[in-house]
Amino acid sequence: MTNKNYKHWRVEHDNEGIAWLHIDKADAGTNVLSREVLEELEDIIGGLTQTSPKGVVILSDKDSGFIAGADVKEFTKIESEDQALQAVRRGHSVFNALEALPCPTVALIHGFCLGGGLELALACRYRVADDDPGCKLGLPEVKLGIHPGFGGTVRMIKLVGPLNGLDAMLTGRNLSARAAKKIGLVNYAVPKRHHLSAARSLIKEPPKPHKLPWWTAILNHRQVRPLLGKYMAKQVAKKAARSHYPAPYAIIDLWVRCFDDPGYMLNEEINSIAELIVGKTAQNLIRVFMLNERLKSLGRSEDYDPKHVHVIGGGVMGGDIAIWCALQGFKVTLQDQKMETLAKVVQRAFKLYQKKLKDRRAIRAALDRLVPDIKGDGIPWADIVIEAIFEDAEVKRNLFAGIEPKLKKDTIIATNTSSIPLDELNTVLKKPERLVGLHFFNPVAMMPLVEIVHSEKTSDKVSQMAAAFTRRINKLPLPVTSTPGFLVNRVLMPYLMEAVNLVEENVPMALIDKEALAYGMPMGPIELADTVGLDICLKVAEILSEHMDIAVPERLKKMVEKGQLGKKSGKGFYVFKNGKPVKPPIPKNYTAPTDVQDRLILRMINEAVACLRDGVVDDAELADAGIIFGTGFAPFRGGPFHYIESRGKDQVVKLLEQLEHRYGPRFAADKGWKDL
Ligand code: NAI
Repeated sequence: MTNKNYKHWRVEHDNEGIAWLHIDKADAGTNVLSREVLEELEDIIGGLTQTSPKGVVILSDKDSGFIAGADVKEFTKIESEDQALQAVRRGHSVFNALEALPCPTVALIHGFCLGGGLELALACRYRVADDDPGCKLGLPEVKLGIHPGFGGTVRMIKLVGPLNGLDAMLTGRNLSARAAKKIGLVNYAVPKRHHLSAARSLIKEPPKPHKLPWWTAILNHRQVRPLLGKYMAKQVAKKAARSHYPAPYAIIDLWVRCFDDPGYMLNEEINSIAELIVGKTAQNLIRVFMLNERLKSLGRSEDYDPKHVHVIGGGVMGGDIAIWCALQGFKVTLQDQKMETLAKVVQRAFKLYQKKLKDRRAIRAALDRLVPDIKGDGIPWADIVIEAIFEDAEVKRNLFAGIEPKLKKDTIIATNTSSIPLDELNTVLKKPERLVGLHFFNPVAMMPLVEIVHSEKTSDKVSQMAAAFTRRINKLPLPVTSTPGFLVNRVLMPYLMEAVNLVEENVPMALIDKEALAYGMPMGPIELADTVGLDICLKVAEILSEHMDIAVPERLKKMVEKGQLGKKSGKGFYVFKNGKPVKPPIPKNYTAPTDVQDRLILRMINEAVACLRDGVVDDAELADAGIIFGTGFAPFRGGPFHYIESRGKDQVVKLLEQLEHRYGPRFAADKGWKDL
């Protein structure tokens, strides 16, 4: 029996008295808990209290999974704490009503079950998850600067205990079905084909609720919570400062203060999230989420479906690009002049696959997809060729001239060059429109962004194909023009060079790094330069200095001459022990200049303005996205242009003028400020 038509739900009552609630959000590939979806669910549950079914099952009709969370787009429209309170209260009342149903309730979970989706499942009495690796359960709200807000903070800790529950909420990481079963988050982790019968049996013979080990009661005890909470806050502080990221601290605080009284804790959860959601951090992190979505939308996978990737150059970059593409399911042939280099890549691949895939068969399969190809036999079969050989225009041109006659007619050639304009490389090609830049960042496995570099000659179709390919390997495409340094290196370099200037002025290196961290950068500039490699920094700086007003510090040249290359040689600015920099402490009586942070950050921001003026990217939003995902620029600040807006454009220009007065023309405000 089916009753009442809903837009996003389908309700069926079977002849065993079970109500099946199918969620299938209209006009969407993924289910999210939008306001409408929740309103309909409220109505459905209201109906169920009248019809008194024997059991209720909630399941998704989408292939993509159960429910991916709340509707983040709606968050951006919240303008006041009152509006936030209203929205959160609605969710609470629906989930409380679901929890209060007198019959057994079951959530059948496959694919993504995140955030509000998991909170909905937590309000059910039982949960069954698909044991496929694609099934992911988690409460990732901290990544958006908030915490679970539909009762999840209470129900999660009650169900899986404070250690597992808080860990899931504080890290925001996903759990597989098996891991979820282990901690008691789900009752069964079984293949999807068994889900319907599992649900029926849970309803017909409801098992006793999952019982936590006795010692969790001690951890949850009123007198223990403050101590444990303090310890956890200390751990969190190592990763995220309270002033920048208040959400994880709020989670700990809720548990410590309120866990004795679940009703009170539910209420306090509402107040806490309403306050967080209108705060700067959450609004900026939500913005970063939307920027991520925008970059994703720039590469539509329908535009291109390549199967075979041929990579030429198996060094630091080419090797890692090949490894990554094979991990993402592509057949990859990897060509290099040297067999030893290819052998090293295979070893590196094995290590990464072990870490990422764990399962032996999956590791084997990924390794089988990565084929060393010293002679370049893969070229005629490739759909895309990625070149990552030495950074030398002549060598690259010779290579392109040699391979073009062997390529299939639609194969695109992508170069990973970080500094050579494409128009200097495409001159030897019969079809120059097929050359595009795919500028990856080091380390490839960690960096989400790829700059899609187009010259005047690159055809739009090829740029689109390159962006689509980037999505297919699970990276974020950012279209940029073929101008020196593109976007990311161009804004990063003045920042790094300013850090070296500060070292030359005898400002302690640890202090320089500390100032950048205090701003919210993921790593200080001195440590970053050492990590990237001082030889690479020098090379990029020298190339950029031909086109831009950046002086290459003498100190950097001397260090590279002496073989002090940073982490890879064991010594750069810092000495490295076990891969970690040993930072000499800041002398006790040292009085730090007050403008260190501004000197570092404003040089980067000034260059970002210059990039926008030069049209390197289409708009300020894309610049923010590229700089956040390419450099790690303090995400909670929402990107350089957003930062300018929040600090006040005139104020920033005034600061630049003061710095110019003090330190010279490298701080002169770019012409582009006028048009902002
Ligand atoms: P690398 O020196 O580590 O590797 C270059 C590899 O290319 C070597 O293994 C070499 O044997 C091979 N090779 C040279 N000529 C060849 C040819 N004709 N046929 C086949 N193999 C050949 O260099 P790296 O650092 O991997 O850089 C490669 C490219 O990536 C450069 O264009 C560089 O500008 C760019 N890039 C480098 C980044 C980095 O952080 N190292 C970051 C982004 C781009």
